Amino acid sequence: MISFASRLVPTSFVRRDALASALSSLRCMSSIPPTMKAAVVREVGDAHALKVENDFPTPQLKPGQVIVKNEYAGINFIDTYHRKGLYPRDLPFVGGQEGGGTVAAVSDEAASQGIKIGDPVAYSVFGSYAQYTAVPAAKLLPVPEGVGLDVATSCVVQGLTAHYLTSSAHADLIKPGEWCLIHGVGGGTCQWAAQMAKLRGFRVIGTCSRGKADVASTLGCDELIVLDEVPGASYEDYESVDIVTRVMEVTDGEGCKAVIDGIGKSTVDISINSLAHRGIFISFGNASGAVPAFPVLRLIGKSAYVTRPKLLDYTVDRAELVSRADEIFGWLKEGKLNVSVDRAFPLDQAAEGHIYLEAGKSKGKVLYKID
Ligand SMILES: NC(=O)c1ccc[n+]([C@@H]2O[C@H](COP(=O)([O-])OP(=O)(O)OC[C@H]3O[C@@H](n4cnc5c(N)ncnc54)[C@H](OP(=O)(O)O)[C@@H]3O)[C@@H](O)[C@H]2O)c1
Repeated sequence: MISFASRLVPTSFVRRDALASALSSLRCMSSIPPTMKAAVVREVGDAHALKVENDFPTPQLKPGQVIVKNEYAGINFIDTYHRKGLYPRDLPFVGGQEGGGTVAAVSDEAASQGIKIGDPVAYSVFGSYAQYTAVPAAKLLPVPEGVGLDVATSCVVQGLTAHYLTSSAHADLIKPGEWCLIHGVGGGTCQWAAQMAKLRGFRVIGTCSRGKADVASTLGCDELIVLDEVPGASYEDYESVDIVTRVMEVTDGEGCKAVIDGIGKSTVDISINSLAHRGIFISFGNASGAVPAFPVLRLIGKSAYVTRPKLLDYTVDRAELVSRADEIFGWLKEGKLNVSVDRAFPLDQAAEGHIYLEAGKSKGKVLYKID
């Protein structure tokens, strides 16, 4: 096709590479069907509000974008908050905000940055529970050889979150050799966080439920506190062990300079009470429910700090996004990080994927496999 066009248009009038890229985009767009399979929320509600549709309009390529043919989409708690309406969004919307696949069409602007059809990529933008997603080139993470697309997809939200939690959100109030408490290290984000905290030289106390102790015990935590499960559930009963007393024993009464807590409501008191003087409570999630309001005066006992961070504020520009991803992909290639992909549901079982995540059963990343 390119040589055919080159015969028609004198190359002195047209830059050959721009022409090739434009034609190549056109060719690939024409092979992308006008409608696609997608898991769509038209009305907020329980997991069944996520409905698989086979004729949802495929996104159109806009300047600066690429179209990714998704192979995997990550399932994250935030997707359930969007589905339920806890974090409101305009309806209808295609679920998800984490995906991985290959580039299927490239705008001229993206092509000029060296992005090519067929490149393996991962990304975080809305609308990943679908066969195709339009992604701004600035949001693309090229997946290096040796890193699988499932692992790369898992990295985009949970891996990058664990990275900023262990490198930046603590505001340097913890130093190598000091203690860090991380809750729920059998879960997705905190499996990564425990390993990364060790790579940063911190001493790590992890908590996990009994059913996830097999995974949690492989992460290199200096101390693992294994708790019973809430009867009938798959997650920790945070009252089954006196975590604060155990933390104080392990740290010789000092407490932890940083506590990384994605559990929320069930653990807020444990987290604050486990802090060392001038330690920081990093409350990054609400797997058990939102953290209730508490008086700032409560922090005076230890002159403690508190932060409630989010990933977007720690990937503010392309340079920050890529530098975090590069470090993670480097660790993965060197075998310093192990990521467990717990399950991959077919996209046709969209509701089941959400039900599974919300039940607290996952021992690592939960994905959709998209054909
Ligand atoms: N702020 C950010 O930048 C950011 C980024 C990513 C995620 N998040 C948030 O962080 C939280 C955790 O996300 P994740 O992706 O790590 O989830 P995950 O892989 O499911 O892990 C969360 C862990 O929480 C525990 N858990 C689950 N349901 C629970 C419940 N109902 N009550 C008590 N504990 C429960 C489980 O651990 P045990 O079995 O050991 O109890 C589970 O392994 C979510 O609220 C998510 O939205 C925030």
